[in-house]
Amino acid sequence: MRALVWNGKRDVRVENVPDPELESPTDVIIRVTSTGLCGSDLHLYEVLGPFLEAGDILGHEPMGVVEEVGSEVTHVSRGDRVVIPFNISCGSCFMCDRGYQSQCETTQNTDQDKGASLFGYTKLYGQVAGGQAEYLRVPQGHYGPVKVPEGPADDRFLFLSDVLPTAWQAVHYADVPNGGTVAIFGLGPIGQMASRIAHHLGHRVIAVDLVDERLQMARKWGVEVLDLRDHDDRIADAVRELTDGRGADSTIDAVGMEAHGTPALELIQQAAGLLPDRAAEKLFEEAGVDRMGALHASINAARRGGTVSISGVYGGMLDPMPLMTMFDRQLTFRMGQANVKRWMDELLPLVTDDADPLGVESFTTHRVPLEEAPAAYEMFQKKKDGAFKIVFTP
Ligand SMILES: NC(=O)c1ccc[n+]([C@@H]2O[C@H](COP(=O)([O-])OP(=O)(O)OC[C@H]3O[C@@H](n4cnc5c(N)ncnc54)[C@H](O)[C@@H]3O)[C@@H](O)[C@H]2O)c1
Ligand SMILES: [Zn+2]
Ligand SMILES: [Zn+2]
Repeated sequence: MRALVWNGKRDVRVENVPDPELESPTDVIIRVTSTGLCGSDLHLYEVLGPFLEAGDILGHEPMGVVEEVGSEVTHVSRGDRVVIPFNISCGSCFMCDRGYQSQCETTQNTDQDKGASLFGYTKLYGQVAGGQAEYLRVPQGHYGPVKVPEGPADDRFLFLSDVLPTAWQAVHYADVPNGGTVAIFGLGPIGQMASRIAHHLGHRVIAVDLVDERLQMARKWGVEVLDLRDHDDRIADAVRELTDGRGADSTIDAVGMEAHGTPALELIQQAAGLLPDRAAEKLFEEAGVDRMGALHASINAARRGGTVSISGVYGGMLDPMPLMTMFDRQLTFRMGQANVKRWMDELLPLVTDDADPLGVESFTTHRVPLEEAPAAYEMFQKKKDGAFKIVFTP
């Protein structure tokens, strides 16, 4: 089959690789019909290189049609249309029982001291072949795949794999009080959907980004926007000005470790990219090379007693955190990978609603053949041509 494989920093290629096969009675094989490119893939493309190996297949936002099922798979069968959650979870362990599918004890990567395995996401998370390919083996397929109805276009359902549950969890974890305000940092797919969901749930939404089209898109959805370029490191003050001087009841960091705005850390990150793998791994895990602008702004823009919800991904272990502020303001923090299946009951009615309340049908800005994925990665990273959400057709 054809698949998008990682070869090195900013070097991905579409190559011939062996077709996946059933390896366990709980596996499912799907033929992929649509597969998303995610902000998280950009971390792999650029800074997480030390945790990848040449030949790794990327991608964790696939949907398609079931081709084969193992003998213990009963809830889906050949020919079913399914979306695949990006976390691989068993559905019946201690963690899955408590709604922490991203911490599944059956697929946890204890050797790396990391949570559940993820598709296409480094050796820290199981080095499982990803979904930017013609076919995908789905481990724990007796639980993961979500059956969706025939008829509507793939875009109706595709974002159940990651973007929608991640955004839903971000808003849920933000714990916005009734009549309250949430400030959302980052208006990529995650921040946009979090904004729409929070607005849909009746909250006031203030959102921050620095890309014109992204600010405009949010404005169309009833969001008050702040352009980071107008405020820079005084962005939290700008949020306070809009919230009676207190700050937002809740804030969401939907940016992660590649935030703009801290040139010194940008330099360390580049340096890590130039080191041999072992040294870079160490520097990455220990030195705290993340760019923390958005996270610190999320902390500063929250009111006293407020909640900070972090869905942006960070990697460093020793990143400096403003503990005095966090403690003095009595903030609550919630974060982590989305527990994808936990939010399906809330999300399925929204994506099947004819009125399309979250605008999933018009969310994709670029649909391109998988063969053109390498150029699309570059376009996405540079945010060229209005690239916002790219979906590949294998
Ligand atoms: N927790 C999870 O399960 C989960 C799942 C998917 C994605 N993510 C993470 O969520 C984050 C966002 O994902 P995405 O696909 O929307 O990414 P993205 O890169 O498309 O969007 C990030 C946005 O943040 C903006 N930005 C950069 N610096 C900023 C700053 N200092 N203040 C405000 N905005 C800033 C960028 O202009 C961009 O629009 C990434 O870190 C991704 O890895 C987490
Ligand atoms: Zn993703
Ligand atoms: Zn489990």
